[in-house]
Amino acid sequence: MCGIAGYIGQRNAVEVAVDQLRRLEYRGYDSAGVAVQVGSEIEIVKKAGTIRFLTEELASNPKDGRCAIGHSRWATHGGPTDANAHPHFDQDQHIALIHNGIIENYAELKDEMIARGHTFRSQTDSEVAAYVIGDEYRHGGTLLDAVRRAVRRFRGAYALVVVSDSEPETIVAARNASPLIIGFGEGENLLASDIPALLPYTRSVMALEEGHLAEITRDTVKIIDGDGHHVPLAPQHIDWDIAAAERGGYDHFMLKEIHEQPEVIRACLAGRIDGKGGVRLEGVFSDNVWNEIDRVNIIACGTAYHAGLMGKHLFEKLLRLPTDVYYSSEFRYGDPVLSPRSLAIFVSQSGETADTLAALRLCKSRRIRTLGIVNVVGSSIARECDRTIATQAGPEISVASTKAYTAQVIVLSLLALHIAQVQETPGLRVADWLSELQLLPGHAAKVLEVEESVKALAEQLKDMPLCFFLGRGADAYVGYEGALKLKEIAYIPTQESPAGEMKHGPLALIQAGVVSLFGATDPATTDKVVSNIKEVQARSGTVLAVTSDTTGAIKKAADLVIEFAPTKFDFLNALLSVIPMQLLAYYVAKLNGCSIDQPRNLAKSVTVE
Ligand code: F6R
Repeated sequence: MCGIAGYIGQRNAVEVAVDQLRRLEYRGYDSAGVAVQVGSEIEIVKKAGTIRFLTEELASNPKDGRCAIGHSRWATHGGPTDANAHPHFDQDQHIALIHNGIIENYAELKDEMIARGHTFRSQTDSEVAAYVIGDEYRHGGTLLDAVRRAVRRFRGAYALVVVSDSEPETIVAARNASPLIIGFGEGENLLASDIPALLPYTRSVMALEEGHLAEITRDTVKIIDGDGHHVPLAPQHIDWDIAAAERGGYDHFMLKEIHEQPEVIRACLAGRIDGKGGVRLEGVFSDNVWNEIDRVNIIACGTAYHAGLMGKHLFEKLLRLPTDVYYSSEFRYGDPVLSPRSLAIFVSQSGETADTLAALRLCKSRRIRTLGIVNVVGSSIARECDRTIATQAGPEISVASTKAYTAQVIVLSLLALHIAQVQETPGLRVADWLSELQLLPGHAAKVLEVEESVKALAEQLKDMPLCFFLGRGADAYVGYEGALKLKEIAYIPTQESPAGEMKHGPLALIQAGVVSLFGATDPATTDKVVSNIKEVQARSGTVLAVTSDTTGAIKKAADLVIEFAPTKFDFLNALLSVIPMQLLAYYVAKLNGCSIDQPRNLAKSVTVE
């Protein structure tokens, strides 16, 4: 999810690369750098922090060349430091590399390199990729040959861009699952991870396909597939304005981020499932700690709190590990009772939420073990927790959180499976769970296909005065998140609760025009949910069911239905049901003319109490 820039032509290539990086700033980043070919050498300038730090460095140490690559980093492996910033040299300092994505088998490759006497300057997986390419380059052939051989050794997602000091004015790129776009100019060519970085220079672009590689000079672009066969060039003309291009052609960042969820699940799992059906969560506590923990407290706000509820469901169901979920603001002032053997988990997209940070500091002052599940790697919560797991969802721009929620739930699931693996939880099939998780990006992509029918439903429901979100078990928890989306961006009042609670009061609010959205993905409670549906309909309420039920019972009972195909695990079906709810909130808000990416009264990062 980092930014990639590359330029080769008659202009000052460093200036162009930095300008390209600035145009990718909306994606968020924590460090930036450039590599430029100067005579027969490659020079690298890189700095942690905003692009201002990089430009200040370049102002005092100007570089000029016709071929440069640039990178703005969103930390995944290794914190946001100068050393971890890209570009990275290979072991001989002849090749410079920038990389987006995650090389899943980097640990094995790094061990192999270390065993051969190489030392590393950073903690990144990307530097390992540079060394592997360097290794292949020594065996002869062009840089393109070396990259083609090297990528066969990589597992994971990557967009790689490299330059070598012995092939002047040549940029080589390779892509697998991370975007890379080539821009075609007159006497100049460019590369970027995203179209907005190309638009000031050219509107003729071509996306590199999965598994393809490119060799770019100022006058030529050559594309080959993984077997070395030539791929014909097929540039497209882009007529979006720059703002639309930043949103990837979507009308809003929220919609873009909803659509990114299959990719986000993949990124979140990347490198965390080993080849032997086990979980590999780097940097978490050692096994004896997991055997000692007697209780988990999950502490978070808003959407992250809702992800925490899903964590509770799984920890208790799979592990029989008592788990409480607290709003950070309540926890910190609530004088919580904390067992010295407990673990406090802090879930936060931004890593800067003031109440969550204060709750973390409270736990630390009580010497409770702390674990962060955080999207922004260099953030305060990520730094201050004893251990942190990155959600790897990439920057989330829309104020309403969507993809971060999904990634948080995936990390909590991986954590539950990791604990199960350590504790050898009887009857729990970790390998089955992991193989189903690996299929989840495909399932999520299928669920996104309901978009057109959700759009039609939004048209029908856009004036609803009140919307209930109901369900049982994990469906109730997902309903809380669906309700938050609808109220925060579409300003529709919502009432969310477990379906069984309706008759203890909230049912009084049901009348004609009121909509009740039922999450119905758990076969164990289908009958009960059908009864709850009838209770609503008997009071003239309209029922919309979001369901993966295959018996037809829910479809028969509900007035309106959004269906999707189930996975093997009910919990994952409940998680997937959030996607239609996010889409419904989005389209209702859009039809009602609401400000979607920046809803009224709200901010992306709540750094005040
Ligand atoms: C809702 C939303 C908020 C955040 C909450 C916590 O869409 O985004 O409810 O989830 O403010 O923020 P983080 O996760 O940054 O701690």
